[in-house]
Amino acid sequence: MDSLQTIKQRFGIIGNNVVLNRALEKAVQVAPTDISVLVIGESGVGKEFIPKIIHNQSARKHNNYIAVNCGAIPEGTIDSELFGHEKGAFTGATQTRKGYFEVADGGTIFLDEVGELPLSTQVRLLRILESGEFMKVGSSDIQKTNVRVVAATNVKLKDSVEKGKFREDLYYRLNTVQIDIPALRDRKEDINLLFRKFASDFANKYRMPHIELSPEAQNYIANYPWPGNVRQLRNFSEQVSVIEKDRVITLEKIMELLPNNSTMLTVTSKKEGSSSDFMERELLFKVLLDMKKDLNDLRALTLDLIKNKDVDDFNGNTQELIQRVYQEQSDDSNDFIPSQYNVVPSNPKTQTYQPPQYDYSNDVYDVSPIEEPESLSLQDNEKEMIKLALEKHKGKRKMAADELGISERTLYRKIKQYHL
Ligand SMILES: Nc1ncnc2c1ncn2[C@@H]1O[C@H](COP(=O)(O)OP(=O)(O)OP(=O)(O)O)[C@@H](O)[C@H]1O
Ligand SMILES: [Mg+2]
Repeated sequence: MDSLQTIKQRFGIIGNNVVLNRALEKAVQVAPTDISVLVIGESGVGKEFIPKIIHNQSARKHNNYIAVNCGAIPEGTIDSELFGHEKGAFTGATQTRKGYFEVADGGTIFLDEVGELPLSTQVRLLRILESGEFMKVGSSDIQKTNVRVVAATNVKLKDSVEKGKFREDLYYRLNTVQIDIPALRDRKEDINLLFRKFASDFANKYRMPHIELSPEAQNYIANYPWPGNVRQLRNFSEQVSVIEKDRVITLEKIMELLPNNSTMLTVTSKKEGSSSDFMERELLFKVLLDMKKDLNDLRALTLDLIKNKDVDDFNGNTQELIQRVYQEQSDDSNDFIPSQYNVVPSNPKTQTYQPPQYDYSNDVYDVSPIEEPESLSLQDNEKEMIKLALEKHKGKRKMAADELGISERTLYRKIKQYHL
C-alpha cells in the first residue's frame, strides 16, 4: 500500500486538508476489497481521483479501468453501451458489440453521475452487482463478469430515492462505503496551495513568468465561496495567468476579476463561507432573481399589449407609456433603455423588436435586469440561458456549466436536447 504522499504525487492531488486526507485514506483502505463505493461531492471537487486511486491500489490494476459518464449517454443507447448488444438487436446494430461491463472484466468501472441512470438500467446494474450476471441487449444468454464498481454523484441521491427516480435497493448496494469530498470553501487552507500549483502549471504551459497574488489578494481568494470548486479555481488561475500583464495581482485586480457580489447584501454572516451560509445566500439570490424576472415578464407582457394594439388607441402617447413601463428599469441600468424598443413605425405589426441586452460580463450573482424573455415557456428560457452562457464563455462548456450552476454533463445533455 502506497503512502498518502506518494498517492498525491502520483495523481497530482494538491492539499492537506484533514477531511480531504481522510477521504483519500478511505479510498486506499477499501481499494484491496471488492466493496462498492459511492463518492459524493459538489461539482468540481475532485471526485474522479477516488475511483482511480481505488483501481490503482487494488489487485485489479493490471486490468481495465473504464470511466462512464452516465449523464452524457442518451437514454436510448446506455444499456447497449454498458452491457453490449447482439447483432440485429435494433436498427443499426450490424455487429455484436461488447459493453463496458464485459470489457472491464477483472477491472474497475467508474459510474459518474450515477443518479442519471434510467430506472430500467438501474435494474440491470443491480443484477450485475448482486450476481455478476448480465445479458446483452437483444440476447437471452446470461453472461458473467467480475467488475468492481465505484459510483459518483453530485446530487442528493437519497432525494432521488424518495422521489422514485433511483431504486432504493441499488442505492444501498452502491453505498456500502461512502466517500465524501468536501467543497473547496470548506478547505480554505488548500485554496492558495492549489492556486500556486495551477498558476505554475499554466506559466509553464504558456511560457510566461509566474503570477503571484499580493497577501490581501490571497486572503480574498481564500474566503471566496468558489461555487464551482477546484474546477472554477483552475479555470480562474488560467484566465489570470494568460490575461493579466502584471505578474503581481493586487486585491483590487482580483476583486475586479472575481467579484464576490454576495457581499452586496447584508446577509453575509461572520461565519462567512460555511456551507449552509452559502446555500442560504444562494437561495436568497435565486429568489431575488426570480422576482426580478417576474417583473421583467410583466413588463414584457405590457409592452406586448402596447405593441399589438393600434398605436392610435394611445393618442400617439405610446412612447410615453413605454417610458413609464421602463422608468424604474432605466434607473437601475443603462443597458436597459427604452430607446432600444423602437415602437414608432406606422405599422406596428412589422416593426422589428430589439430586445434590450443584458450585460453578463462581470458578475456571479448580479441582481440587475435580465433580458426580457420573448417567450414565457420555461423550456425556451432555459434554452436561451444556456445559449447566453455558452456565448459568454465562448463555447467553453465547463465555465458555462459553472455559471449556470449545473454539471457539465447536464449541460452536455441539454445542448443535445435543444440541438444547440
Ligand atoms: N485536490 C486537487 N488537486 C489538484 N487538482 C484538483 C484537485 N481537485 C480537483 N482538481 C482538478 O479539478 C478539476 C475538477 O475535478 P473533477 O473532474 O475530479 O471534479 P468532479 O468532482 O468529478 O466534478 P463533476 O461532478 O463536475 O464531474 C480537474 O481538472 C481536477 O484535476
Ligand atoms: Mg467528474
